[in-house]
Amino acid sequence: MRCMSDDHTHVQEFFGARAAGWDRRFPDDGPAYAAAVAELGLREGGRVLDAGCGTGRALPALRAAVGPSGVVLGADVTPEMLREAARAGRDHDGTLLLTDVAALPLRPSSLDAVFAAGLIAHLPRPAENLREIRRVVRPGGVLALFHPIGRAALAARQGRELTPDDLRAEPNLRALLTGAGWRMTSYVDEDTRFLALAVRDA
Ligand SMILES: C[S@@+](CC[C@H](N)C(=O)[O-])C[C@H]1O[C@@H](n2cnc3c(N)ncnc32)[C@H](O)[C@@H]1O
Repeated sequence: MRCMSDDHTHVQEFFGARAAGWDRRFPDDGPAYAAAVAELGLREGGRVLDAGCGTGRALPALRAAVGPSGVVLGADVTPEMLREAARAGRDHDGTLLLTDVAALPLRPSSLDAVFAAGLIAHLPRPAENLREIRRVVRPGGVLALFHPIGRAALAARQGRELTPDDLRAEPNLRALLTGAGWRMTSYVDEDTRFLALAVRDA
């Protein structure tokens, strides 16, 4: 399956071209991913989705958190990213799904948590997409929006200014999450990490 809508084409081209070197660009991020995953509060046997999993850098930590009896899924719309995930053996930690988070092939309330690293800025319709992610999480389940560096450091790396309309600025993100049926419970934006946690309202 190859998703060819305009929404996907840009993302697939951008990340498709970067997939092969993705892990080499960020070789030291493992502990930051593990620390962020720990904040999801997953238990043995839990069910979790890595939304926009890319090369699956979070999958080993997610598998360790839910153990062999748990369910770990990694969803991404860029085939090359999933190919790299499989090449790195991360398909042993989780089931890889080539899919858009705008239409997840999952039953309502079937997950305990969703982890999404570096995803939200790439979503064309974040409010709608966060609502779709909410659909597949049980009431009381958790969403983590993560990035291994903070907003200011990322903007500097990308050579752009951080503006007040930034989607991930605290007031903007809180309002976005609330509108999509999530309650933001914590927000950290420091040089070494960005992590917003939210709970699915009943
Ligand atoms: C910045 S990368 C982060 C990858 C990975 N989470 C990580 O931390 O290394 C963003 C990823 O989100 C994926 N993505 C973007 N929009 C998506 C969508 N609508 N549905 C599924 N995946 C998407 C891209 O293909 C890409 O792999």
